[in-house]
Amino acid sequence: MELIVEVRSDDPTRPLSNLLRIPLGLDVWEANADRLVLRADEAPIDRIRKMGYQIQQIVPVEAHLSTFATEVSREGYHSAQSLEDDMRQLAESRPDLAALHEIGRSVEGRPIWALQLGERQAGTRKLLFMGCHHAREWIAVEVPFLLARELIEQADTPEMSRRLTQGQFWIVPMVNPDGHEFSRTDNRLWRKNRRRNPDGSIGVDPNRNYGYMWGTLDIPTSSHVPSDETYVGPRAFSEPETRAVRDLVAIQKFAGLITYHSFSQLVLYPWGYTAEEIKDPVDRATLSELARGMSECICQVHGKLYTPQPSSQLYPTAGDTTDWTYGEYGIPSFTIELRPKTVEEGGFILPASAIRPTWEENRPAVFYLVDRLLEAPARAEAAVPSV
Ligand code: ARG
Ligand code: ZN
Repeated sequence: MELIVEVRSDDPTRPLSNLLRIPLGLDVWEANADRLVLRADEAPIDRIRKMGYQIQQIVPVEAHLSTFATEVSREGYHSAQSLEDDMRQLAESRPDLAALHEIGRSVEGRPIWALQLGERQAGTRKLLFMGCHHAREWIAVEVPFLLARELIEQADTPEMSRRLTQGQFWIVPMVNPDGHEFSRTDNRLWRKNRRRNPDGSIGVDPNRNYGYMWGTLDIPTSSHVPSDETYVGPRAFSEPETRAVRDLVAIQKFAGLITYHSFSQLVLYPWGYTAEEIKDPVDRATLSELARGMSECICQVHGKLYTPQPSSQLYPTAGDTTDWTYGEYGIPSFTIELRPKTVEEGGFILPASAIRPTWEENRPAVFYLVDRLLEAPARAEAAVPSV
């Protein structure tokens, strides 16, 4: 039977982070200094208990699903098709401002859609917002979609029209449409894409498949075992979903980006692959300051704390989106883990009634970032020797 359990350690010589270094086939749902929440079968859970950790069962997965994954819990969330319809409608409502682009196709051939908004002149600063690398993180579709809707619906207000003139927005609410569809129809807790692996298992983790320091870790949160939830894939950019993002980023040269995930309420910034800090002192200060700024904006709306921290502090991963966009291009890049904070509040299964407040609190954070990045002086390109 699959269980959701809480793991604690009362022995300082046996920190919880040790557990994330041994291959156990775990699905890590929460990672804090004093509590890990895992989804796992009974056998690995017994092994963890025998290693001396305190285990508390929160709930069997089945019971968690029957509590949270109810019929009504689907209402208000997009499918791949309804998202396409709504993005098309947005684009058609303002052809002067918006254009819909297919940036690639998934393993099963579904289009991956991007909405381009705002000034199209060469030289305009471009920003990227993505959602749903992970199938089950449905709220991570809705927040970037609502951002697109807001930009269009408010386009003629002085503030928004300024942003749409100064900047150009690219919004990709569903990077992993196959996985998302599977999580709607078959398995609400599906995470990866739908790649058939040679060992018969299914799925590569798109957020481990990017090409910066790809594959350099082999741990439960960044695994080389195809059946694991965090399988990195056979090589960097082996997946069409990450290639679609790679190609878009290579062409557009973004000045900043947010990739939305859930859950845990965090504002993360590089690095993910190492516990070391970013070397460049200006970048290091800028990224942590922007993350803190976004966290403050969020907190002011409904009082929710989204903790700003380097990604690796959550847990180490190699090949995530923001390590690649920052490592390869120097783009200020953030991963926002949306509501809720804990599994007890539903974890990945956020009630539709929370979509609006989640957007309401993220709205000022995203515009804070947008305004900071649009007003920032142009970043120096790779040092050009002066003559
Ligand atoms: N929870 C996301 C994931 O597992 C975000 C990872 C961000 N990077 C990190 N090193 N924690 O893909
Ligand atoms: Zn995720």
